[in-house]
Amino acid sequence: MTAVVVVIVVWALSLAVIARLVRQRSLQEKKRRETLMRALVETSSGVALVFDAKRRVVIANDDIRRHSGGSATGRPVVKALGVADDSVAVKVLDDVMAAVLAGDSSAAELPDEEDDGSMRILEIEGRPLEGGQGFLHVSDATERRERAMRSAQSERMEALGALAGGLAHDFNNLLFVTLGNLQLMATNDVVINDEKLSKFVSRSVAAVERGAEITKSLLAVARSQPLEESAVTLADLVKGILPLVRQALGAGRTVSVDIPDQSVQLMLDAGRLSSCILNLAFNARDAMGPNGSLTIAAHRVDELDPSWGLTGSFIRLSIADDGSGMSDEVVARAFEPFFTTKKPGSGTGLGLATVYAFARQTGGTATLTSRLGAGTTVSLVLPIHDPSDAEAASAPRRRAGRRVVVADDEQSLAELVASWLIDVGVDARFATSPKSALDLVEEFAPDVLVSDANFGEEIDGIELAKLAKAIQPDLAVIFMTGYSSSMRTLQELGERTLAKPFSRDDLYGALMPYLAEASDV
Ligand SMILES: Nc1ncnc2c1ncn2[C@@H]1O[C@H](COP(=O)(O)OP(=O)(O)OP(=O)(O)O)[C@@H](O)[C@H]1O
Ligand SMILES: [Mg+2]
Repeated sequence: MTAVVVVIVVWALSLAVIARLVRQRSLQEKKRRETLMRALVETSSGVALVFDAKRRVVIANDDIRRHSGGSATGRPVVKALGVADDSVAVKVLDDVMAAVLAGDSSAAELPDEEDDGSMRILEIEGRPLEGGQGFLHVSDATERRERAMRSAQSERMEALGALAGGLAHDFNNLLFVTLGNLQLMATNDVVINDEKLSKFVSRSVAAVERGAEITKSLLAVARSQPLEESAVTLADLVKGILPLVRQALGAGRTVSVDIPDQSVQLMLDAGRLSSCILNLAFNARDAMGPNGSLTIAAHRVDELDPSWGLTGSFIRLSIADDGSGMSDEVVARAFEPFFTTKKPGSGTGLGLATVYAFARQTGGTATLTSRLGAGTTVSLVLPIHDPSDAEAASAPRRRAGRRVVVADDEQSLAELVASWLIDVGVDARFATSPKSALDLVEEFAPDVLVSDANFGEEIDGIELAKLAKAIQPDLAVIFMTGYSSSMRTLQELGERTLAKPFSRDDLYGALMPYLAEASDV
């Protein structure tokens, strides 16, 4: 009997010890899990919290204090997050928490209006935890989304630009040959003496020139047009273009200028910058009421936005209007080539794309801010030129003779350019492949090589120029190009770059300073 009692007592004692051990182990396990969860919550970026079945905060990180204004533990999640009772956010949060408490992961997005009226996008994610609890993470996705959108937008612009540039290149060659032959026709005696024929020719010339203007805009968008860069005083350039801006805006609208640093210089294509300003003035006019006002301002950029990928000193040239402004959807696409909200026939959608492409090609960027009903500011961020850094601009150096080799794989084009030169007493020969051009350089010893930038062969214009200069070190090289993805190299290697299609006068203007005077030979 006693033995039985002893066994029972021992058995009961063992059970109690085991139960205690199990309890201790599970307490330890719970504590370990809690420590782990606390560490995870506290080191999470954004708001991270654990909530219970009553949707009250169990653990939260410090970020929640921004919303709750104090300790969040024990408070209902929606209150701790500072969400207004009757807002959409309450419903979104409740739905996420309900799904989580039912054992499912859940996610949602919440637009959140800031005090200054700007919108932010919050991403909410929930995960179920053991013991009827849930984990909630709220993060601000506004900047990440904007960055992704900007990068997708700039990829789209690059692709469209390259497409436009490629098309324009082929059209350019055709227009160039047509224009050149029409110009030769115009100077032919038969045409000169026939009034009717002269009229036909001049009408055709005008139409081809209009076509050339369009391809020029396309090439500008593709950032593949040669720029005629020179040191420009920004304040003077703006002063010079002001009468045209006033005319573009029309009577009743005002323009003011705010450029405190009157001496700041930029190294850029002044003609192209002027046409950008005019383009922006036209856009402003279209968005303005009859008494609108435009401000052209230029201020140094104190802090560069890292996403621009720029280094150095920059000036922000802003053109601001008080017009109708743009919706967020229009802002997102405004710089895209061919994007327009104007009626068919009123806008090509190339204005802002050209401005952006010009700013990038000049080594800067363009930005845009706009609010519906308040107005629009477009800014060109442009590199400041320090004249003391720059080498003295080298004046064209005349060669001893007047021999020229023209190289282009398009035979009609090579022939045309050579014939223009022969007409004014230049000893010109032409070649239609890099190989025959190099043979000519060796045999004929030209003073200048006028070469296409892109041959449909292994050797391109850049390679040809290098090889030709190796044969004849004093050779001056002038590139002709409608489109090139290596514009910088062309400008560094050649003396000049002529944008196709060019006129006879453009050719003479570019070439003659490198040749001996006709009277000297
Ligand atoms: N200052 C502005 N205010 C309001 N909306 C503007 C302004 N500038 C541009 N936009 C909007 O951006 C769109 C694109 O402008 P962009 O200058 O590229 O082309 P466009 O003016 O439509 O045509 P184009 O300039 O080729 O004649 C415009 O259609 C317009 O909706
Ligand atoms: Mg425009």
